[in-house]
Amino acid sequence: MEKKLVFSGVQPTGSLHLGNYLGALKNFVDLQKNNECIYCVVDLHAITVFQDPKELRDNILETTAAFLASGLDHKKSIIFNQSSVSGHAELAWILNCVARIGWLNRMTQFKDKAGKDREKASVGLYIYPNLMAADILLYKSTHVPVGADQKQHLELCRDIAQRFNNDFKKNIFPIPEPLIQKNISRVMSLRDGTKKMSKSDESSYSRIDLKDSADEIVKKIKKAKSDSLPIPESLSELDSKPEALNLLNIYSDLNKSTLEKTLNEMKGKDYSYLKNKLSEILIEIICPIGKKITQFLDDKTFLEKVINEGSEKANKIAQKNLKEIKNTVGFL
Ligand code: TYM
Repeated sequence: MEKKLVFSGVQPTGSLHLGNYLGALKNFVDLQKNNECIYCVVDLHAITVFQDPKELRDNILETTAAFLASGLDHKKSIIFNQSSVSGHAELAWILNCVARIGWLNRMTQFKDKAGKDREKASVGLYIYPNLMAADILLYKSTHVPVGADQKQHLELCRDIAQRFNNDFKKNIFPIPEPLIQKNISRVMSLRDGTKKMSKSDESSYSRIDLKDSADEIVKKIKKAKSDSLPIPESLSELDSKPEALNLLNIYSDLNKSTLEKTLNEMKGKDYSYLKNKLSEILIEIICPIGKKITQFLDDKTFLEKVINEGSEKANKIAQKNLKEIKNTVGFL
């Protein structure tokens, strides 16, 4: 069987939330059991939107702490920050010359993030997906666990890898496979079930942060939008109730159950019943992670050691691959 090489990244732009955990981190932890895994705190990506330098430094450590608190083991997986391995930026430049402007123009996340005033967005934000492709391809990664919001970027990465291999008539890069959770690939906002749960949402009531206390979790779930009618019997009735569907999906995933089974258990009941159960299971699963994040943050020397050791390991693989890539391109 072909060996998997897993790569993924998370931006250090604030506290991680339930969407990051269910869509990505939980999968990172499962994958580390049987595969070679590289997990990166993508600080070069973070600066595509201005970051206060002190906050950025704190957030790099906090994201590393969240990786460890979720169950990643720095002895099994390589954990590091992107800017400490220069190969990411070097390969990104080469890939900037492979990707086509038309391909980038299709990226919906750039359109969303740049908003109406696109001329004022940084050039980095526009070519961000090429840097993401470089992150993945630098290690010749074969599998990439992400939430559904990153699917289009992964497709672009596959196109870039294919184009590079074709242009240079050499099979340098494997074509990486996205690994997207089946049951819950997109956790939605607690205030608006048509929007994804996001760090950048102004309302903290829209998300559960991994560092939330039990009281905060109860308050946020109580306030979460649901429905005035009781919980329906069938999946089809949920089509027009995105907030209710989101709460039921989150509960099913945390409870290691399916949406069908949850509906069977809860049909006809009030949403307050679901909300109580959901708060309980969130407190059981998320609060211990939050506590561990705080504990890890108390030992910054340890966190720095983890990322320094990880960077050294990542750099070795990156330098070897980069040498082959530069040689392929025709650099001396
Ligand atoms: P980022 O930092 O926005 O999010 C980190 C991971 O969390 C997932 N995620 C979600 N999943 C489900 N529901 C949600 N509401 C939700 N919000 C976030 C994201 O899909 C992601 O997997 N561009 C990436 C970071 C990146 C990367 C890479 C990922 C840079 N280079 C290479 C994979 C491979 C990003 O901004 O993720």
